[in-house]
Amino acid sequence: MHNSLYPEPEPNGVLGVGILGAGPVTQAIHLPSLARLRDLFEVRHIMDVDPAVAESVASRVGARFSTSMDELLADPEVDVVAICSPHQFHAAQVTAACRAGKKAVLCEKPFAMNGEEAARISAVSAETGVPIIVGAMHTFDPGWLAAEAAWGNLPEQVHTIRSSIVLPPNPRFEDFATEIVGRPEASAPEASTPNHVEPAAAKAMLRGGVMGLAIHDLPLVRRFVPDFQSVEVLHAEVLQPFGYVISLRTATRTIELRAAMNSTWKPEWTFQAIGDEAQLTVSFTPSYVHSGSATAQIARAGSAIQLGPYGHNGYEGEWRKLAELARGKGEAPPARTLIDDLEFALSIADGAATRYESPTHTRQEVSA
Ligand SMILES: NC(=O)c1ccc[n+]([C@@H]2O[C@H](COP(=O)([O-])OP(=O)(O)OC[C@H]3O[C@@H](n4cnc5c(N)ncnc54)[C@H](O)[C@@H]3O)[C@@H](O)[C@H]2O)c1
Repeated sequence: MHNSLYPEPEPNGVLGVGILGAGPVTQAIHLPSLARLRDLFEVRHIMDVDPAVAESVASRVGARFSTSMDELLADPEVDVVAICSPHQFHAAQVTAACRAGKKAVLCEKPFAMNGEEAARISAVSAETGVPIIVGAMHTFDPGWLAAEAAWGNLPEQVHTIRSSIVLPPNPRFEDFATEIVGRPEASAPEASTPNHVEPAAAKAMLRGGVMGLAIHDLPLVRRFVPDFQSVEVLHAEVLQPFGYVISLRTATRTIELRAAMNSTWKPEWTFQAIGDEAQLTVSFTPSYVHSGSATAQIARAGSAIQLGPYGHNGYEGEWRKLAELARGKGEAPPARTLIDDLEFALSIADGAATRYESPTHTRQEVSA
């Protein structure tokens, strides 16, 4: 019997995988996913600018290693390429992989740093015919896909959308997120009380939080926001030690984005779309966790349906989709969708940073 742990054999043989960047995401997310998909993929080449990382990660999976992107792209045994380097290299590496004539490209989010880069990438994809998918894993989660197949007219009647993320502390993520615009100098002791975050650090946290964390759910949010281009940030606040509360609206929708990385005992990642007569709630597994899919509930007055959990999550889902695309089956996400998703995320990140008011300022307003 076919199940997700034992994929059906590929009639055309396995696809060779090359990976650019072999940091935590490659090691903890993609290699475990690929290990469950051996009938579809074989990791053949690992490239990292750090030779020790490249060699040690490649040796774990019996792959060749190199420190040069060109060497990996010239490897004839690499059919598909995954881009897992830091953000700023994604656009150039996606473009080079398409031009190298690979069968399909998976790029970690975000696939570009601005709208122009995104448009350039989609032009190269169209010109070369190489399909690209972005590692927005929730959009490939079977729990989400089952909800999408069952939600009927929900998108038309939704008025409120919420993405709520509670995760254990992750100082590395905090560094990573705030480094997007340069890590601010360490604060003077009197300035770093629990209730005060320096404005530069807060703005960096908001941008980093949106582009690093909220971005996983923004393509989902956009499904319920037809007028997404008119999104306006009403409120943006940072939470200690790391988190954000961002309120947004369009003419027809209210959107709430929340994240907190604190000493919680119970991680939670929930997406909700609330309509006049129905409500969707999706509970995702936390990032890096491989324990089956999200679960979804669609509730209407007097009835509710539960969907999932299914055997695999969106990380494995994105690789399954990549295998289909590399074999010329299925549809790649339209380039316009990828560009719109990125521009939506960038506009919220910029809007939140602009709208930011320090907690001190807010308290003064309340007491005035
Ligand atoms: N999908 C998810 O759940 C998820 C979670 C976290 C991060 N990410 C994304 O994955 C990507 C990688 O994340 P990470 O935490 O592993 O990053 P990282 O920065 O820790 O590691 C990336 C690796 O890339 C290497 N590198 C640096 N420059 C390179 C270059 N020019 N070419 C090739 N390799 C290069 C580094 O030596 C490092 O080993 C980021 O874009 C991040 O946003 C995705």
